[in-house]
Amino acid sequence: MHPDPDFVTLVEVAPRDGLQNESTPLPAEIKVELVDRLTAAGCPTIEVTSFVSPKAVPQLADAALVMAGIRRAPDVLYTVLTPNWRGFEGARDARADGIVVFGAASETFSQKNINCSIAESLERFRPVVMAALESGIAVRGTVSCALGCPYEGVIPPEAVADVARELLALGCEEISIADTIGVGTPARTQVVMERVLEVVAPSRINAHFHDTQGRALENLEVCLELGIRSIDASAGGVGGCPFAPGATGNVATEAVLAFLEARGFTTGIDRGAVTATGQWLRDQLARR
Ligand code: HMG
Ligand code: MG
Repeated sequence: MHPDPDFVTLVEVAPRDGLQNESTPLPAEIKVELVDRLTAAGCPTIEVTSFVSPKAVPQLADAALVMAGIRRAPDVLYTVLTPNWRGFEGARDARADGIVVFGAASETFSQKNINCSIAESLERFRPVVMAALESGIAVRGTVSCALGCPYEGVIPPEAVADVARELLALGCEEISIADTIGVGTPARTQVVMERVLEVVAPSRINAHFHDTQGRALENLEVCLELGIRSIDASAGGVGGCPFAPGATGNVATEAVLAFLEARGFTTGIDRGAVTATGQWLRDQLARR
């Protein structure tokens, strides 16, 4: 965690979460330009793509090409999603700085998203996390559907905390608590995060909120009050999950930056540059 308590690490997820759900995929060179623009804007961590089955997410089938094309800044972490060993090999070969193993607090969502149960997913992640840590690759574990599931509805906070604890035990350095479909309210966010905080220190929690109902900023405020200082956001507010019907974009980076600045938090990111990038990205998507 950053030594300054007012510093928030903003993780830019537009290239991955933003583009995985687009009906017309962007060409690899536009994705590369997006990542390069985000690097130039000062984003400290950028989730670039996913090494997943191209049948599951054809939009990101060019993961290796995109990773090979980006211009890296030495102090920026370029991370990718890896659901299994095959994904890890792709990430390692592409020289990813960090990987994300993504589980869920909902059995049905786990089946729909990665075609296995929660318990099976954790066993799949085990060798991946171990190998990543041995190779000096940072590891995040995600708990999807923490604030609600498109298939099962309400998810007990205990189920969220259980998966968070398991991911931590596997060796994940950061645990991302995700409101996959943006159904969270501030009151529910408080309950779920307080339960997770019983098993994970605030310095190791990331907040990943989709903004389907326009409540992401209120929910993030609760997270900040609880001491969480890592937030995912997507330039232009683009995003959604193909396996979560109803999920719209992630909370927009521009909005989060303005929100944080108004409360005295710093991020090191140039808000003007991200705003321009968000507009540019929306133009690229609209053109197709
Ligand atoms: P499966 O069908 O059980 O896997 O899928 P399999 O091992 O039986 O393999 C099936 C086929 O996929 C085979 O190819 C494999 O080679 C291939 P075939 O023989 O049929 O030609 N394959 C792969 N290809 C490339 N890279 C790989 C890979 N693995 C297998 N890594 C699997 C299981 C997990 C692979 C599949 O379900 C999958 O790829 N799912 C991706 C799901 C996904 O990306 N979802 C969106 C991201 S999660 C999200 O958005 C939530 C998040 O934002 C947080 C939140 O908001 O909640 C993170
Ligand atoms: Mg997401």
